[in-house]
Amino acid sequence: MLFFALLVKVTWILAADGGHHWTYEGPHGQDHWPTSYPECGGDAQSPINIQTDSVIFDPDLPAVQPHGYDQPGTEPLDLHNNGHTVQLSLPSTLHLGGLPRKYTAAQLHLHWGQKGSQEGSEHQINSEATVAELHVVHYDSESYGSLREAAQKPQGLAVLGILIEVGETENQAYGHILSHLHEIRHKDQITSVPPFNVRELLPQQLEQFFRYNGSLTTPPCYQSVVWTVFHRRAQISVEQLEKLQGTLFSTEEEPLAPLIQNYRIPQPLNQRTIFASFVQGETLCPPGEMLGLGVGILAGCLCLLLAVYFIAQKIRKKRLGNRKSVAFTSARATTEA
Ligand SMILES: *[C@@H]1O[C@H](CO)[C@@H](O)[C@H](O)[C@H]1NC(C)=O
Repeated sequence: MLFFALLVKVTWILAADGGHHWTYEGPHGQDHWPTSYPECGGDAQSPINIQTDSVIFDPDLPAVQPHGYDQPGTEPLDLHNNGHTVQLSLPSTLHLGGLPRKYTAAQLHLHWGQKGSQEGSEHQINSEATVAELHVVHYDSESYGSLREAAQKPQGLAVLGILIEVGETENQAYGHILSHLHEIRHKDQITSVPPFNVRELLPQQLEQFFRYNGSLTTPPCYQSVVWTVFHRRAQISVEQLEKLQGTLFSTEEEPLAPLIQNYRIPQPLNQRTIFASFVQGETLCPPGEMLGLGVGILAGCLCLLLAVYFIAQKIRKKRLGNRKSVAFTSARATTEA
């Protein structure tokens, strides 16, 4: 009987994971994913490091429009610790506009680092990671009946990637998720959370984004994702980050292992092109550099002004001196006459 129960459990675990146990580190870690999941070794994997000097500006990229995000309905939403991440199920009234087909939302989840770490995002911009990343997963509901069916089809999925950094204030929207983590500390625990405005998890400005073809960032790594990574970031407080980094376990029972560092390292870009909805340069210049540039220009102007002033002074003095000597000479000339 016990054996049967164990067998059922093992089969269930295998089925749920699509075949094999996987982790981020260790003998089942990301370097070993391709052994059990061949597609993880493919040539169009995610995440990637977005090198902004090699992206292509595409003026025809339509704006990404989240529809229904601000009216998530009245039904509570499931929040699930699946041992790899914390995942919120989303109602099918949420969908994305601005892509070739209608993509319906299915779930969102987070990736983060270890306690106190400044890393944790999956995507990087110019080799810079942030503390965490939000993924909102959608599937092509015009062509397929479910997320499961769409997940293996070319461009079957559309995922929004939002880089998260630490800001000054608490983010109320992220609070709707983070304040429930203590209810689902162990793997396979589920709680329900009241519906909230999911739009507020995204950055305010959605106009600037990167677009590329990639994959799921976890096994089975299907290369079916149209990625949209926003240039603007979302911000959570340091207390919120600590809650994310310090509350969950990746195991059901003892020995408890913390659920941390659930991010995959950037994958080779290979032959792919990354498109940008915006022109680099002025918009990508971070405020610090802009300030530096401003100060530089100001200092340069000041130097030039001072130089001109001193030269003018010198010329004036010289002229005055000339005039004096002329006056002196002429005065002498008059007395001598
Ligand atoms: C993604 O791949 C499809 C099919 O090859 C192609 O039509 C599309 O332009 C690609 N999109 C990007 C952003 O590279």
